[in-house]
Amino acid sequence: MSEPNTITLDANPAGIERAADILGDGGLVAFATETVYGLGADAHNDMAVARIFTAKGRPQFNPLIIHVSDVEMAERYVEFTPEARALASVFWPGPMTLVLPLRAGCGLSPLVTAGLTTVGIRIPAHNEARALLSRFGRAVAAPSANPSGRISPTTAAHVFDGLAGKVEAILDCGACDVGLESTIIGFDPAPSLLRAGGVPREAIEAALGTQLAIRASHDVINAPGQLLSHYAPDAPIRLNAETAHDGEVMIGFGDVEGDYMLSTSGDLVEAAANLFQMLHKMDTIGASRIAIAPIPMDGIGAAINDRLTRAAAPRD
Ligand code: TXA
Ligand code: MG
Repeated sequence: MSEPNTITLDANPAGIERAADILGDGGLVAFATETVYGLGADAHNDMAVARIFTAKGRPQFNPLIIHVSDVEMAERYVEFTPEARALASVFWPGPMTLVLPLRAGCGLSPLVTAGLTTVGIRIPAHNEARALLSRFGRAVAAPSANPSGRISPTTAAHVFDGLAGKVEAILDCGACDVGLESTIIGFDPAPSLLRAGGVPREAIEAALGTQLAIRASHDVINAPGQLLSHYAPDAPIRLNAETAHDGEVMIGFGDVEGDYMLSTSGDLVEAAANLFQMLHKMDTIGASRIAIAPIPMDGIGAAINDRLTRAAAPRD
């Protein structure tokens, strides 16, 4: 895709409608929430979600949180535990993200969850953000709207400085009230604080009537049984293969032909969009050995290679 010409939209009904249309066409729209500006994409659209990673220059596919307009919309995507329901009723809309089991068949791109069976979800306490989400009618995946490694943006000008030419539009809603990211709470097995943020821990403990365990989000994501096993297909993987050996299912890219192709045209964004689907497909078809073509390291190729290296790592 060619470099978009970034437009700034006023946060009035016409601007919000335009922003929703751009999301519907697979475009990227940065929008304010009460915490920080988010870099939004249609959470059902693999290509759009893949472009979030290229726009941010993220070297890895971290799972993204999804934003919804109300609890009814949230129910379409996740299964609430009783504690999660209690927290949602007290703190939503607001700067709190709940990590909950994904509802089967909900249609989210596997790139949003990075292949996990849980997803982080929240309802922002921001009128224009919620107007955009309800106009759009389905979940918007959005990490903070900064290039990877830079600080999170709290004004439209910050977003423009970091992402001009990488996103289709910025919905200018002025400065963010909270100015720091949402608190992230997980529930597996007990309520735990995965990231400190806009809602203080004490307030959450008071609402639950119990103490929160404290774990880093990356511990959860890297915990055995979480990331690796969900990313890796059953069959062993050989990387940087130019041709298939006997008995291997070949996944091609660009000029390297395969039984399946990550991208025939050698487009890394398309390859990223297809990656998790492809790895799952290897299980569905019952592949016994998998060979994968070399993927260049430029841009989002670094994240693809990171993921493939993990999937190909020796397992117990
Ligand atoms: O305030 C916020 O939360 C902002 C605004 C835009 O909503 N968003 C934000 O997103 O900070 P991001 O992608 O920069 O941070 C989301 C964090 C990441 O550290 C990610 O690892 C964690 O949430 N996360 C997402 N899904 C997860 C999951 N299933 N399990 C554990 N952690 C998860
Ligand atoms: Mg961030």
